[in-house]
Amino acid sequence: MVKQATEETADEVTPETGRMPRRIVLGVTGSVAAYKAAELARLWVKAEFTVDVVMTAAACRFVAPLTFQALTGRPVWREMWQESAGDGMQHIALSRGAQAIVVAPASADFLGRAAQGRADDVLSALCLARECPLFVAPAMNQQMWSHPATQRNVAALRADGVEVLGPDSGELACGETGEGRMLSPEAIAATVSAYGDEFGALLAGRRVLLTAGPTFEAIDPVRGLTNRSSGKMGFALARAAAQAGAKVTLVTGPVSLPTPMDVTRIGVVSAQEMADAVFAHVDRADIFIGVAAVADYAPAASAAQKLKKEANETLTLALRATTDILAELAQRAPKVFRVGFAAESQDITALGETKRRRKQLPLLIANRAQDAINADDNEVILLDDDGAHPLPRMEKTLLARVLIEEVAKRFHEWVKRV
Ligand code: CTP
Repeated sequence: MVKQATEETADEVTPETGRMPRRIVLGVTGSVAAYKAAELARLWVKAEFTVDVVMTAAACRFVAPLTFQALTGRPVWREMWQESAGDGMQHIALSRGAQAIVVAPASADFLGRAAQGRADDVLSALCLARECPLFVAPAMNQQMWSHPATQRNVAALRADGVEVLGPDSGELACGETGEGRMLSPEAIAATVSAYGDEFGALLAGRRVLLTAGPTFEAIDPVRGLTNRSSGKMGFALARAAAQAGAKVTLVTGPVSLPTPMDVTRIGVVSAQEMADAVFAHVDRADIFIGVAAVADYAPAASAAQKLKKEANETLTLALRATTDILAELAQRAPKVFRVGFAAESQDITALGETKRRRKQLPLLIANRAQDAINADDNEVILLDDDGAHPLPRMEKTLLARVLIEEVAKRFHEWVKRV
């Protein structure tokens, strides 16, 4: 029997603990991987979460709702207009007080619907009406995953603050091998618990200033010098810092990435403009993170008119060094916790440590230059006064959260000393 939504979704403080019960909404969509969602539900129940399962019609063709009802001891939500369910507002009520909505598996169709903001089934409506984080764990055929339409939808969801978990590569249910396999239930459960309430309080009330992307130094109106940088790491860090409760200002060179939610963006072009913007805002910052690939040299003079090609002639460009923003902050803002990035092509730890000392940084994040550019994942080494701390290779969004945790930990120690 379907119980009353109002009874089931009300968050009551338990007499035993005096705390709100922990609740997760698990969305299951139409994919062969739906059977793995049963294991996910079991893991959370075992970890003493209340689990409310919401299934799409397609999901019910793969796994019976009764499986989830038996595992969770709760009714399974399938229909938007479930008349027996309280006031008929379960699509809103279910997400209230929930720690997260996790859609696993998330089919290509669901990703498209969520990216569009559709609300014509109970799961999509719930995602739209939520005030908690949303995680999706895609599972589909590799061709469907790599199709530009799916990738567009995934990019739109990420820009809206949705966490996309996986997919993994390997053998797929359709018999093909490639990217599209849902992450294991254990990996999904571990990632979602790492996004607990504590993260949102890590930098509450603090101000974080970041630089990201490349700079562009004009030679003439159509040509210039630049560095290869996608801006992905800097934008992911800005988003993670905002999710950690900080007020975030992101000074970015020319990139075409969407501005993360709750982040103030200042667009610049040249190294000088980036330096000016940083120096204008650093006084109000608690933490500065320099992720930008700032050009070290700029043309000594920029031609007002387009330079013309002259036959058989060698063109010599005179260059002047730009301001090293990060190094300059050691003098201008010594009380700000300054974090640098270093992309090195060899001897990462030794060269990184030399750079950290030269720029007087409490923390430097070093990685291989070959890995950093344009990739979606990254492997870094943290360098601080206690030595080198390598982190495992991770997707940039997850890495950004781990890095913000590492930065916050060191920052709170630092403020006690300065
Ligand atoms: N950086 C900066 N301003 C510059 C150059 C670099 O703020 N003009 C910052 C970057 O944002 C990064 C760090 O300094 O956080 C390291 O930059 P990198 O270019 O790797 O180091 P360089 O000092 O330029 O040394 P080299 O090019 O010799 O490796």
